[in-house]
Amino acid sequence: MCGIVGYIGDKQATPILLEGLTKLEYRGYDSAGIAILNDGNINIKKAKGRLNVLKDLVEKNNMVGTIGIGHTRWATHGEPSDTNSHPHLSQSGLIAVVHNGIIENYLPLKKWLLEEGYNFISETDTEVVANLLEYYYNGDIVEALRKVLDRIEGSYALGVLCKDNPDMIVAARKEAPLIVGIGNGENFIASDIPAILKYTRNVYFLDDHEIAIIKKDSVEFIDVFGRKIGKSLFEVKWDVEAAEKGGYEHFMIKEIHEQPAAIKDTLRGRIIDDSEIVLDDVKITKEDLEKIDKIFIVACGTAYHAGVVGKYVIENLARIPVEVDVASEFRYRNPLVNERTLTIVISQSGETADTIAALKEAKKKGSRVIAITNVVGSSVSREADDVLYTWAGPEIAVASTKAYTTQLIALYLVAMDLAIKRGTITKTKVMELCTELKKLPEKVQYLLDNKDVIQKFASEHYNAKDVFYIGRGLDYAVAMEGSLKLKEISYIHSEAYPAGELKHGTLALVEEGTLVIALATQDDLFEKMLSNIKEVKARGGFVVAFAKQGNLQLEGVVDKVIYIPETLKELTPVLTVVPLQLLAYYMAVEKGCDVDKPRNLAKSVTVE
Ligand code: AGP
Repeated sequence: MCGIVGYIGDKQATPILLEGLTKLEYRGYDSAGIAILNDGNINIKKAKGRLNVLKDLVEKNNMVGTIGIGHTRWATHGEPSDTNSHPHLSQSGLIAVVHNGIIENYLPLKKWLLEEGYNFISETDTEVVANLLEYYYNGDIVEALRKVLDRIEGSYALGVLCKDNPDMIVAARKEAPLIVGIGNGENFIASDIPAILKYTRNVYFLDDHEIAIIKKDSVEFIDVFGRKIGKSLFEVKWDVEAAEKGGYEHFMIKEIHEQPAAIKDTLRGRIIDDSEIVLDDVKITKEDLEKIDKIFIVACGTAYHAGVVGKYVIENLARIPVEVDVASEFRYRNPLVNERTLTIVISQSGETADTIAALKEAKKKGSRVIAITNVVGSSVSREADDVLYTWAGPEIAVASTKAYTTQLIALYLVAMDLAIKRGTITKTKVMELCTELKKLPEKVQYLLDNKDVIQKFASEHYNAKDVFYIGRGLDYAVAMEGSLKLKEISYIHSEAYPAGELKHGTLALVEEGTLVIALATQDDLFEKMLSNIKEVKARGGFVVAFAKQGNLQLEGVVDKVIYIPETLKELTPVLTVVPLQLLAYYMAVEKGCDVDKPRNLAKSVTVE
């Protein structure tokens, strides 16, 4: 996730900006840059790579000045490169912009600006904002910004410098974090508290559709209509470490809480009028699909589990047979892949060695490859024919959470896209799916707001030796992910089983008090699940069931029921997995485990 920092005061801005950016490194980035306004000129230095590259560059140049903005970029539009790094200058060099977020309608705006005679040098959506500001600039940068905000759609935290206004930074936000720090004769903007904690503990949190006008001795807030807004100052009590985690104890729980926003971002700009799916870098056509008679989904770990849900959804909507394979198996088993096969690889990091090898194997055999990844410019994104990005932002905790839910969203979009092109889905069904997809963020939020129940349960059961997760169909796919989450961070032995398979062996392990998590959210399979649950209860198992809100049939049958908000059957995994992530997290916390860095594991497995 990009990081923004800005300074205005009497001190030299460059060291303050560089230090602030260093404090934002934990957010993840691939390039960085700063812009300093001095003597009527905006001096920009930016570079791909770590902050040290930028620091070297800055040292070699004289970046003098007491007002400036800085940025660490996590690539979205356009690969990591010097040119795509922020700050971006408007065409004449009048205005510099740093941005965190996604401008959904940047393509039509860019087209329009090109017709108006503007040139672009980067592939970014941010450069559109810079040129749009210049287009609307009529001597008043605040007014220009208000006009720009009226035209752009999507999410943004923006920091803006204008040559004509050496005494102010203007900033705005919508669905991306931005704070204003208040110092003594100096003020700041930042994406997050750690960037400015050394200088001030007094901050304002900008809300959506608010604009801040920051001068060295004053800060003013207005809405998009130019009306003044009163805001309350917040005194930060956190230390730097807590501030990096947004006040949460671990990155994992922070990332679990980021899921509503990550889902929203991954859907952003991809559903048009609830009837059309737009996947920019997936160029597969109706004609291409006529030549495809099989799909392989290949991935590792959590991404593989997302693929299992993907198989179900693609087969049901697009009516093409789908095989899901673990990348480390696929690459060595001479799979039956040819030019009539479409391969979908899924990888959060885009750098997993087995997944990259599987991708190459599929291509060698003539398959077209679509990559679903969270990292722009990653190896899988470069090797694949088509790419669909999940916009989860950097995931720091080893245990994958927001990457999984956004991978599911990407797979729903791909399934719908393929189904529409193949003509296997009705307009009504597309509309129904689109409507429900957009409601998922608020339903995930509801589950997060009710996390206390899970936390309490974890505090009572963290001593469990073995935990079994059972489910059928899509519930089984989610059970696999829930089980992996638990074992990897709490070190409790756990297994996931298709519920109907228990009686073929594993039931022998269930005895008095064995903890069994039974997922029963699928209407058509509910009666079958009920029978399996009763099998477990009859052997003394302690059963926690997950059921849809409104289905009270498990009350009195099991030991505890967790209710999942109603949604379409296909979409339930996005919701069911949330309490399972929370359960694993709280069990691990109760056990005193190193939640973010579990033993023996690495975030990105770049070796075989
Ligand atoms: C899950 O919590 C793990 N971190 C792990 O299974 C992970 O999903 C797997 O290593 C694949 O990583 P990738 O998505 O970066 O390829």
